[in-house]
Amino acid sequence: MRTQLSFASISQIETELLAVLAVDTQTDKAADAKPLPVLLTADPAVQAAAAAVLASGEFKAGASGSLETTLLHAPAGLAAKRLLLVGLGKQAKANANSVRNAAGTAVRFIKPRGLRELVLALPESDPKILPHTASARAAVEGAFIGDFDSDTYRSERKDQSVESFTLAAPANADKAALQAAFAEAIIIGESQNFARSLVNEPGNKLTPTLLGARAAQMAAEAGLGCEVHSTNKLRELKMGAFLSVAQGSAEPPALIVLRYEPKGVSDGPVLGLVGKGITFDSGGISIKPSDKMEEMKTDMAGGAAMLGAMRAIALLKPRVRVISVICAAENMPSGTAQKPGDVQTAMPFSPDKPGKTIEIINTDAEGRLVLADGLTYARQLGATHLIDAATLTGACVVALGHVNAGAFSNDEEAWSKFDAALDLSGEKFWRLPLGEEYAELIKSDIGDIKNTGGRYGGAITAAEFLKVFVEDTPWIHLDIAGLAWAEDSKPYIAKGPSGVGVRSILEWVRKYSS
Ligand code: BES
Ligand code: MN
Ligand code: ZN
Repeated sequence: MRTQLSFASISQIETELLAVLAVDTQTDKAADAKPLPVLLTADPAVQAAAAAVLASGEFKAGASGSLETTLLHAPAGLAAKRLLLVGLGKQAKANANSVRNAAGTAVRFIKPRGLRELVLALPESDPKILPHTASARAAVEGAFIGDFDSDTYRSERKDQSVESFTLAAPANADKAALQAAFAEAIIIGESQNFARSLVNEPGNKLTPTLLGARAAQMAAEAGLGCEVHSTNKLRELKMGAFLSVAQGSAEPPALIVLRYEPKGVSDGPVLGLVGKGITFDSGGISIKPSDKMEEMKTDMAGGAAMLGAMRAIALLKPRVRVISVICAAENMPSGTAQKPGDVQTAMPFSPDKPGKTIEIINTDAEGRLVLADGLTYARQLGATHLIDAATLTGACVVALGHVNAGAFSNDEEAWSKFDAALDLSGEKFWRLPLGEEYAELIKSDIGDIKNTGGRYGGAITAAEFLKVFVEDTPWIHLDIAGLAWAEDSKPYIAKGPSGVGVRSILEWVRKYSS
């Protein structure tokens, strides 16, 4: 998708479709209060072209709570062939996230109609509610997110990608600030879509080795250091937990290490981004039921989120060092697979100390096993602060549904930075508790800990398991099991891989920039 920022008058831009946003300004909450839709543009020609449909009451600007669109052909007085009104809903609730979704809606509106280009008018409203730069950024991100579709393996696929997206800003806007926000948003939107494209790949097309190759290619393009290791290195590092998951598969594991080392930053924190990269999770010997098992190709979404975030970090260049460790493996049942009851020894933090021992209760609780060694390795490589992302537990989906992802932290300062990052990303994460009583549930009779904590509080006991390997390092854990893959499409995003986490992890990293 080509993107440009224009300061031309929106009534004079020749385009297949001009999209203009609107809000409902009605504040009366009475059931019979009529919506008062108002366009977020000062352009008198656009106002005139839309006057009749606004007066008709047919377009309510999304007053009922969902995004609403109305299309006008050959709008009088405009150079555009079509005028699309996108309603954000109540004015009081409009924010950058609604702009992101509205831009995605406009893009997804034109795709099936055979149109390949559009212009979106940057919303003009109270700058305290919708500052220009935040709106511009959200709009461009939303356009990229909306442009993504997952049907890449259709043999006679009609590519409906949008060729050109123009954001039209008022001539009196702060051009330099808008340019900067615009350029950032392209990187962020493309990075999120990169993560989505990885999650979309089926297990046979994206083995751990191939995920490693994709990571290396991205790293070369974005200018990151990258190493991809396999079984020998895992043995050398004594990554017994990670190896135990990989041992059941004919596909070798991949330990992907990315490094972002900005010039002139030699002290301060080193952030460690650790991702679960299970390219297919059958459950292993504790095999999953066949219903929906195909969705377990998405079990590398945490790793993909880290790769997307690392791409954006490399291109946006915050002043903080970042390393990423992605543990990729296939979890398969076979004659060489690990068994329930097996005891594994995780990677020791110092080579001369013993590693923690793990009793395997359920081979389907494999994500925490690969992450245990990934977290330890990131610390050994010098990470002072950790964040991990994983499609870790079904229990997290039971707790929070497909609306919020789960988040955990052992450190209030790291958490407050993540909380602030959420304001910028617009992503929904809900913090869940940790605690000694939960940690009790994963103590093992035969060894140090066991890899499941029983039926209740499963997302939390999984987080407690990871915490054992984090020790005192400030850490955030993101359980994205319920959000990595959407079963249904929305007006602004296709069903399939969401790319959840990329934006929030990136913004968290930027909070540490010196
Ligand atoms: N990858 C799954 C978790 C998952 C479930 C992701 C649904 C996405 C959607 C994970 O490896 C797993 O199997 N977890 C088990 C843990 C249990 C055995 C303690 C689970 O949640 O059932
Ligand atoms: Mn599993
Ligand atoms: Zn899994």
